[in-house]
Amino acid sequence: MSADLLIVANRLPVDRVTERDGSRGWRRSPGGLVTALEPVLRANDGTWVGWPGLAEDGDDEAYEPFEDDGMKLVPIKLDASEVEEFYEGFSNGTVWPIYHDLVAKPEFHREWWDAYVRVNRRFAERAAELAAENATVWVHDYQLQLVPQMLRELRPDLLIGFYLHIPFPPAELFLQLPWRRQLLEGLLGADLVGFQLPGGAANFVRLVRQRVGHKTHKDLVYLPDGRTVKAAAFPISIDAAGFEELAAGDGVAARVKQLREALGNPRRIFLGVDRLDYTKGIYARLRAFSELLEDGRLDVEDAVFVQVAVPSRERVEQYRILRDDIERLVGRVNGDHGRIGRPAISYLHNSVPREEMAALYRAADVMVVTPYRDGMNLVAKEYVACRLDDDGALVLSEFAGAADELRQAWLINPYDINGMKSALVEAAEADPKDLSRRMRAMRKTVRQHDVRAWADAFLAELSSIAGSSHDKQVR
Ligand code: ADP
Ligand code: G6P
Repeated sequence: MSADLLIVANRLPVDRVTERDGSRGWRRSPGGLVTALEPVLRANDGTWVGWPGLAEDGDDEAYEPFEDDGMKLVPIKLDASEVEEFYEGFSNGTVWPIYHDLVAKPEFHREWWDAYVRVNRRFAERAAELAAENATVWVHDYQLQLVPQMLRELRPDLLIGFYLHIPFPPAELFLQLPWRRQLLEGLLGADLVGFQLPGGAANFVRLVRQRVGHKTHKDLVYLPDGRTVKAAAFPISIDAAGFEELAAGDGVAARVKQLREALGNPRRIFLGVDRLDYTKGIYARLRAFSELLEDGRLDVEDAVFVQVAVPSRERVEQYRILRDDIERLVGRVNGDHGRIGRPAISYLHNSVPREEMAALYRAADVMVVTPYRDGMNLVAKEYVACRLDDDGALVLSEFAGAADELRQAWLINPYDINGMKSALVEAAEADPKDLSRRMRAMRKTVRQHDVRAWADAFLAELSSIAGSSHDKQVR
């Protein structure tokens, strides 16, 4: 196999799962990275290298390249200790909390770092084997920040792009990392480093200048070997037309009716949809809703909160604690405010199929997206894309990347519970004309800046680097 476009990400778009009857199968993997990249892979006929979400199970066949639903996929093996130290440890116990404003406390362990280096090398070596001469390799996200440099050493002919799906933090936070210099140098192996927002790109360039000592000018870094690295913002998006089509499907309207009936035909449905992650502010939003019931500003007879939480990183302690906290809160709120057949909060701890997700988006009068920090938040964009009638209200944290584009949402500070409560009530009671004006503008934004435009912009910038005379000289 030899690929002209290789996508390298920690997760494959599908996870290897064991079915109830013991047989093996594949299921769509969780998270926004997969939602965004799947249509890009299909449109560009690329090959995707990634981990199938299981600790190595001795079943070597499972690691052969294969095709799933038209996608060319190449699995990478992680053993149980690598899952613990590289994935749960350094990626999600160290980098994730630091890059998300220290919403949780990061841990620093030298063995975790060693596993991170080892696994990054494995990804780089596999990519080096698979990439055709002068191919484009697009490396994704915080789990693989060392891959660009490792890959460049192995294959200087390649055009290498890197995209960070999560925020890139300011120096005060980044500098806590004992391995900060190695991470910056790892990223500098790419020709183009992409971020969600201009602030992330600026943080990166400043750190490179101050800590690695390279010359920089605006968004360019000049390396001593003559190479130039560009750092720029490319806000990610969704397949907007795909979501519109899904939402317009025959089954969806009927399902919306069923859902409303099953919830007791309340006047207002509030909806939260997230991976069960402490960055998402799920607890705070449910508390805000429950206080509104307590204060009598909302009544369980006409308002319900539907929260769908996808299980995520369940062996990491902070995720376990969060799940317990949320489930305790849901139990208490339902005990205090629910009636028979009318819960205050309808809570699902599950992944739901895409059609059902579209029906939930269409059924929800108020979409509540309240992360403390989020690279983009695709759920907000998916909701907007599914509001075919230009109605519905979006309450959105100003700390989600999406807030830069979706300015017509009710923007809130998730640390300010009173502010969040007022926004929930205002959004629920808004005048239909106001709702329609806001939603029309947001739909236009999401349609114009869809995931195809995002990928095209990134890949065009990357090939223009290949075309520059300076780089030709180096190659
Ligand atoms: P993150 O990447 O941090 O998980 P995003 O909001 O960017 O956050 O992306 C989440 C993706 O996961 C969206 O595409 C959303 O539709 C999907 N998703 C979230 N919750 C569920 C769920 N319960 N079942 C299925 N998909 C979900
Ligand atoms: C976010 C990250 C992705 C990650 C996804 C799901 O979107 O940016 O890199 O794949 O969450 O998390 P998981 O740990 O299950 O891969």
